Amino acid sequence: MRTLVLGANGQLGSNVVATAFDRGWDVHGTVRSPPGGAPVECSRLDVRDADRAAALIDERGPDLVVNCAAMTDVDGCEADPERAHAVNAEAPGALAAACAEREISFVHVSTDYVFDGRDEAPYDESAETNPLQVYGESKLAGERAVRDAGADSLVARLSFVYGTHGFTGELTGFPAWIRGKLAAGESVPLFTDQHVTPSRAGQAAATLLDLADRGESGTVHVASRSCLTPYEFGRLLAHRSGADPALVVEGAMDDVDREATRPRRTCLDVSAVEAALGRQQPTTDDDLAAIDEALTS
Ligand SMILES: NC(=O)c1ccc[n+]([C@@H]2O[C@H](COP(=O)([O-])OP(=O)(O)OC[C@H]3O[C@@H](n4cnc5c(N)ncnc54)[C@H](OP(=O)(O)O)[C@@H]3O)[C@@H](O)[C@H]2O)c1
Repeated sequence: MRTLVLGANGQLGSNVVATAFDRGWDVHGTVRSPPGGAPVECSRLDVRDADRAAALIDERGPDLVVNCAAMTDVDGCEADPERAHAVNAEAPGALAAACAEREISFVHVSTDYVFDGRDEAPYDESAETNPLQVYGESKLAGERAVRDAGADSLVARLSFVYGTHGFTGELTGFPAWIRGKLAAGESVPLFTDQHVTPSRAGQAAATLLDLADRGESGTVHVASRSCLTPYEFGRLLAHRSGADPALVVEGAMDDVDREATRPRRTCLDVSAVEAALGRQQPTTDDDLAAIDEALTS
């Protein structure tokens, strides 16, 4: 499949590129900053430039466009809501419209932060949205803009993305930060009052491509089966990486002063993606086992 991946240098985008490339698909990436070690050719693109994005789509002639580009700095979005809306809402809408006009499949990535986290039960795709901060509002507006563009697109909501970078194989995000602290013998306070279903970037990338390959559309939740706290996640990580789990200590969300409010419980119900693909999503322990080498190196 001829595939164009936007935001190809990010945690998720690099894994979408690497996974599609490994499957023998014809892949082209777009990046904002120059990538290191990409296995495919990449073009520079700021997704806010709708004309350039459309021209690139015409140049490359893809069957599938996957949008992994986003302003993901949750507190940064609070400080710069205009930019958040331009990148996370207006750009996806314009991209979806460009794909719809050309009858190209479009996959857009969204977030569990469209929910307010007040429900105990995991959120399914039909659950009511109510974002608590600018990031979630901008991502929800992006989902709506994609739907309004009339394309037969797929919106995949992920939760707490982590893993290894698709080009370098190096740990990224939360595990990289924790492993650094633990390796230095520092204690790591992690929240016991937040619950998420972590999405490993490599697993989510493969799932997105499986869904696209099957021509799935609509909204789908792509995450692990494990609803856990960052504290529990950190303990699993310490265990897997051979560090002392006692260095992972209990913390609370209110201990940290941050610009944006975070939801407390945004575990995603993954039964729809499991039904669509006829297989179970992994647990977080399965996911950590899959990146064992990076965790222990
Ligand atoms: N991270 C999470 O915990 C999480 C949770 C749920 C959902 N998600 C969603 O998952 C998707 C992928 O996130 P991620 O974790 O892979 O984030 P990431 O590593 O921050 O990747 C986002 C990418 O978007 C690029 N980007 C930002 N602004 C851009 C612009 N104006 N034009 C073009 N590219 C731009 C960034 O490029 P630069 O590196 O050059 O800035 C970066 O490569 C996003 O839609 C995000 O909302 C993430």
